[in-house]
Amino acid sequence: MMQNELPAAAVAADDAAPPVAPHIVFEGLRKHYQGARGRVTALDDVSFAIGRGEIFGIIGRSGAGKSTLLRSINMLERPDGGAVRIDGTDVGRLDENALVRLRRRIGMIFQHFNLLSAKTVAENVALPLRVAGVKPAEARRRVQALLELVGLGGKADVYPAKLSGGQKQRVGIARALVHDPEILLCDEATSALDPETTQSILALLRDINRKLGLTVVLITHDMAVIREVCHRVLVLDAGRVAEEGEVWRVFGNPQAEATRALLRPLRHDVPADLAAALRPEPRGAGEAAVLRLRFTGQGQPGGVSLPALAALGPGARLLHGGLDRLRGHAQGSLLVSVPAGALREEAARAALLADHVEVLGYVDA
Ligand SMILES: Nc1ncnc2c1ncn2[C@@H]1O[C@H](COP(=O)(O)OP(=O)(O)OP(=O)(O)O)[C@@H](O)[C@H]1O
Ligand SMILES: [Mg+2]
Repeated sequence: MMQNELPAAAVAADDAAPPVAPHIVFEGLRKHYQGARGRVTALDDVSFAIGRGEIFGIIGRSGAGKSTLLRSINMLERPDGGAVRIDGTDVGRLDENALVRLRRRIGMIFQHFNLLSAKTVAENVALPLRVAGVKPAEARRRVQALLELVGLGGKADVYPAKLSGGQKQRVGIARALVHDPEILLCDEATSALDPETTQSILALLRDINRKLGLTVVLITHDMAVIREVCHRVLVLDAGRVAEEGEVWRVFGNPQAEATRALLRPLRHDVPADLAAALRPEPRGAGEAAVLRLRFTGQGQPGGVSLPALAALGPGARLLHGGLDRLRGHAQGSLLVSVPAGALREEAARAALLADHVEVLGYVDA
């Protein structure tokens, strides 16, 4: 059976977003700063919701307002307008005591770990418990359990200077979890780490999200991180929501120019030699047209079947490209050349196969 003959219901079920109850809701959030060069708008009428138990990504260029947005969740930044609701409670209206309790329900990790160098790993993790007046025996028990959880069971008495970057961030994560929070905020938490260490920290975050049912909100400049762990993503552009949605949808078929700019480093692009050979118009009959078949994950839940690819005529050539899998959806692009004389038929066949088909130009056959 060809992919495009899948029963409509199967495609619809696969397309439907999993139902999630809203956990954190932003309503028309606004924030201005008084900068040296006048008034800066950091957030401009931002409205969206983060579901309970999601790993939610926030992306945008530098200065887009990501950190301001994240810090409004626990009122480290007070908005000038609008509201943030956690489980329906407007956190901007909480008094000081209620705010302290709220902040214990929200863990935070950062790029630079923020560990105290004169204290051991266990003391660093225990610090928030001491501040909260938890008894030493209970604190020790909890700290040890958390160190086991983050894979540092044997490092309790070591000082931060003796740890790698990845291990320091594990301490940061353990410390963020001491009050058994329901939300974990991560601001560039993997930006100081090498790719391999980043992978291990992401695996830990995924593990914590699953085991503890935590809602994770994550800011990063690394689109591969978003693709790897996030369920949904919001794109901020100059303080406004450019777009939001499931990662496979937004990354597979970005609608906003801001998103396309952020994703450019991830694209399987046209190789330089092919780009140089492409002509915008055909010159003669013996040429080949180059098609880009894009797979956005909408129509190919099981991947692209090889027999379907063979439905392109015998003159078709696979030139370049690759497919990734993003939460079970085939994504990427294939560059294919077809005889220019058969372009219309071949493009029609390709349209049955891919989610988008584009004629890039013409080359010598
Ligand atoms: N305390 C402050 N005083 C004045 N302006 C500020 C302050 N904090 C942030 N801003 C400005 O508000 C805007 C949004 O800043 P924010 O830190 O939220 O951006 P960001 O998306 O986190 O950027 P980056 O990716 O560089 O961390 C920027 O123009 C920034 O210069
Ligand atoms: Mg920031």
